[in-house]
Amino acid sequence: MSATKPSNPTICILGCGGFIGSHLLERILSATECTVYGIDIQSSKIGHLLSNDRLTFVNLNVYDTESVAKYVHASDIVISLVALCNPALYNTIPLEVIDINFNRPYELLRMCAEEEKWLVHFSTSEVYGKTLAGFAQCNLAKDHPDNYVLNEDSTPLILGPVHAQRWSYACAKQLLERVIYAYGFEKGLKYTVVRPFNFIGPRMDYIPGIDGEGVPRVLACFMEALLFHKPLWLVDGGLNKRVFTYIDDAVDALMAILENPKTSQGEIFNIGNPANEISIARLARRMVGIYKVLRPGLASCDFTIKAVSSHEFYGKGYEDSDRRVPDISKIQECTGWRPHTDIDTALRKTIQSYIEHYARDAECREAG
Ligand code: UGA
Repeated sequence: MSATKPSNPTICILGCGGFIGSHLLERILSATECTVYGIDIQSSKIGHLLSNDRLTFVNLNVYDTESVAKYVHASDIVISLVALCNPALYNTIPLEVIDINFNRPYELLRMCAEEEKWLVHFSTSEVYGKTLAGFAQCNLAKDHPDNYVLNEDSTPLILGPVHAQRWSYACAKQLLERVIYAYGFEKGLKYTVVRPFNFIGPRMDYIPGIDGEGVPRVLACFMEALLFHKPLWLVDGGLNKRVFTYIDDAVDALMAILENPKTSQGEIFNIGNPANEISIARLARRMVGIYKVLRPGLASCDFTIKAVSSHEFYGKGYEDSDRRVPDISKIQECTGWRPHTDIDTALRKTIQSYIEHYARDAECREAG
């Protein structure tokens, strides 16, 4: 596909059944006339979309490159959401993390280069690792934006030592970005790399023991605690900060990218809401407050917030990004996108969706 867009391109979405994929698919089907090949082994989050005439859902392992090839061939744009992006896995199964986040998608990008498809690849905000201020500890002014605001084209990517296996994921993702860039440079691959900054919203992650196992990301960890009256754990005191970006804003950004191939191809974009920065400790307190408002019957309940070391919570080899504030000026200039949803609205909508989805499970556990 050239940098000019066909009016209704055919889009192949690898990983259409996950959190981001389900929202993106929903929007593409409702807001465009595009035809979609949606590939995933799970469809529980997209059940409401499966009867759409313009969707061909393919129940296929996204890593089965040979079988995926014919859908890539039949598409103009390939959106790859394939990732193992849960920090609890980075230091516990690092080989699989590197395999799934580097080796498997490498095959896909080779195919996109050969077939001259536009690859929209999901990377991660985690490639930035630590901020300059966090890395240098007291030697740099922590509050000077140059030392913590993350820019796609100028900020260095600062990861910890090899034995700190937390960085296995960020390193695999970073290397893949470098290979994509090199394919663009040497072989003319048309690509756009996106770096998501903690998207939240309905259908995100899972609740352990209900519809998944292990330790999900922080939003789902805190929701499990709220729904099932367990402590909210603050890893290393919850001092690190994130920006939480509402999924509808994130999908707006992706649609703006698809609408603007000329200015989006050959670019890496941060997608995040810099206005929504919050420490994890404050997030816990904020979520307790919102949860009590949404479930007035629990207003007098005490929810326990406790500190835990990262070693105890995640095991050996865990390190953390201290802050992740995106510079979003490039995506604004290239596509006109900007986020609109403030942190309280994003949390309220997300918490409400968890309450609705897991209400019955919560009642059963309360009764039992
Ligand atoms: C993860 C992935 O590694 C990124 O690739 C991805 O881009 C990002 O999620 C995302 O959602 O966009 P991270 O932000 O570290 O990155 O993921 P979380 O597991 O949500 O952790 C956020 C912070 O909360 C960390 O400091 C973590 O230590 C802390 N945390 C987590 C707690 O304090 N308590 C918990 O119960 C869980």
